[in-house]
Amino acid sequence: MKVLIISSSLRDGSNSQALADAFAEGASDAGHITEKITLKGKDIRFCIGCLSCQKNGRCFIDDDAQEIVRKMHDADVLAFASPIYYFGISGQLKTLLDRANPLYGGDYHFRSAYLLLTAAEDSESTPGKAVECIRGWVDCFERASLTSTIFAGGVNERNEISGHEALGYAYSTARAIAQ
Ligand SMILES: Cc1cc2nc3c(=O)[nH]c(=O)nc-3n(C[C@H](O)[C@H](O)[C@H](O)COP(=O)(O)O)c2cc1C
Repeated sequence: MKVLIISSSLRDGSNSQALADAFAEGASDAGHITEKITLKGKDIRFCIGCLSCQKNGRCFIDDDAQEIVRKMHDADVLAFASPIYYFGISGQLKTLLDRANPLYGGDYHFRSAYLLLTAAEDSESTPGKAVECIRGWVDCFERASLTSTIFAGGVNERNEISGHEALGYAYSTARAIAQ
């Protein structure tokens, strides 16, 4: 299977990137064709809502979203890694998901999505709104579903996730993705 992991934090020593790395290692060890993309340094402009993608099958904005969206189309499994920002996902991930609108209603391959989240707070309710945001996106792709969310709470400083049990969950969850 093709597993595509999209990591959206822009900071060095990113906690959610560490979750993405662990997930990628698990997927790779399970024998999947695994690719990880970071949004750091990428030029991804906002969707302007023209809906021309629904006629042309592609967005007219010629930036880095084009290639990422093509890879999203071809992947069997998608994993999104994001820091929680104001109880939602990062703006940069939301911007990419909006730009993935050419995939809507098309022949995308993905059937399964995973969400990897980090936050300073560690209460049960902390990831809820971010999870619902991603579920809302995935639910629009009727052949796909949000399979699992891995949340690492209580991590705020760079690299603070080191040793967190969620890293092991991220690895084992990806390791268990069936061929
Ligand atoms: C703009 C901004 C908003 C944030 N909002 C929240 C929040 O609502 N709840 C929370 O627990 N942590 C919040 N945080 C903390 C981050 O989620 C936390 O530092 C996370 O580990 C960052 O992940 P990263 O290292 O992958 O960027 C926020 C951080 C920033 C910069």
